[in-house]
Amino acid sequence: MSPARAFTSSTRPHRVVQWATGAIGRSVIRGVLDRDDMELAGAWVHTPAKAGVDAGVLAGRDPIGVTATGDAGDILDLDADCVIYAPSPAPDRFTELETVCRLLASGKNVISLNGFVYPQAHGPQYVNELEQACKRGGVSVHGSGISGGFMADLMPLMLARLSRRITHVYVREVSDFARHPSWQMVHHMLGFGKNEEAYLRALRPTRNAMRAVFSESLHLVAAGLGVDLDEIDVDVQHRLAGTDLTTAAGPVPRGTVAGARWTFSGLAAGRPVITLEVVHKADAARMGDEWGSPGYSLRVDGRPSLTLATDETWVSDAISAAAAHALNSVPVVCAAEPGIRTCLDLPMARGHMRI
Ligand SMILES: NC(=O)c1ccc[n+]([C@@H]2O[C@H](COP(=O)([O-])OP(=O)(O)OC[C@H]3O[C@@H](n4cnc5c(N)ncnc54)[C@H](OP(=O)(O)O)[C@@H]3O)[C@@H](O)[C@H]2O)c1
Repeated sequence: MSPARAFTSSTRPHRVVQWATGAIGRSVIRGVLDRDDMELAGAWVHTPAKAGVDAGVLAGRDPIGVTATGDAGDILDLDADCVIYAPSPAPDRFTELETVCRLLASGKNVISLNGFVYPQAHGPQYVNELEQACKRGGVSVHGSGISGGFMADLMPLMLARLSRRITHVYVREVSDFARHPSWQMVHHMLGFGKNEEAYLRALRPTRNAMRAVFSESLHLVAAGLGVDLDEIDVDVQHRLAGTDLTTAAGPVPRGTVAGARWTFSGLAAGRPVITLEVVHKADAARMGDEWGSPGYSLRVDGRPSLTLATDETWVSDAISAAAAHALNSVPVVCAAEPGIRTCLDLPMARGHMRI
């Protein structure tokens, strides 16, 4: 078989549905339009004004004859192979679970940008509902993206292939929000620009949401290395702006919250074995080096120990990269046996060269 034939397991294009057309969703649609082994079967939108609009136009391209719908029923009724699931995060993971299970039960594989990289992290009830839905639809669910889905889990596991007697895995992710355009994200979700009292009041739901997302990556790394985590400790610290800062999304005045460091420690046999630090800065260039500069730092302690560090230029467009990871996973997910399929279960998803 030629390498090109081996690359696509299917003889006809995969029919892909995009669920939500935010930054990720629009990038996925453009990615589908640029590939001859995929076609867009449909698009679900949350914003009422987008319903009825051509999906190509929503993605900044010419019309393609696929009309976006706000009615989930239209998507459930479609004949399609796979849904790329990328809406704003739901208020709790069981709301997310319900939507994903409906899509699965309707016979569509789901590749999610919102978790599902290791659903086992949420316990047997969660797993059982997903497995039942996969069984009903004869399909699989898989989580993808960059973090989770790549830098916080898949990359450390790749690095760990080069080591033995591994004692600890460490990942640090530092993100700069100076150019992030969304006030919803910068102010409401991260809490930047809030006074300390308001920030601390909102911390409990944020803590639950952050734990839900990143516990999946920690449990995935642990499972990949053959250990069970007993628990995950979560610690969060914040910093106030020492001077007035201006982000693309809006102002972060002096004395309001401008940075946070989340530390997730996966414990086994009473000691941390996997540590993930997630650092958010409102304006990294003006906030100094405390907690590191933007980029990733990965370390596997073992024989030998390995480190891999990047600065913020490691990716020219993180949204495109997260979307591409999901799209490049479509062939292997669609070919998989039905069920929850993590990166530990699937053959390697590969990029797609166009000549
Ligand atoms: N794993 C990763 O590495 C990674 C990377 C980037 C993003 N993400 C996740 O992927 C998701 C999408 O990211 P994004 O950058 O595309 O965000 P975004 O630009 O804010 O788009 C989110 C879209 O969700 C829809 N939406 C808005 N409110 C909603 C609600 N209440 N219920 C359901 N849908 C709603 C809207 O779709 P319409 O415009 O179609 O109405 C909106 O455009 C987010 O959850 C984000 O956290 C993950």
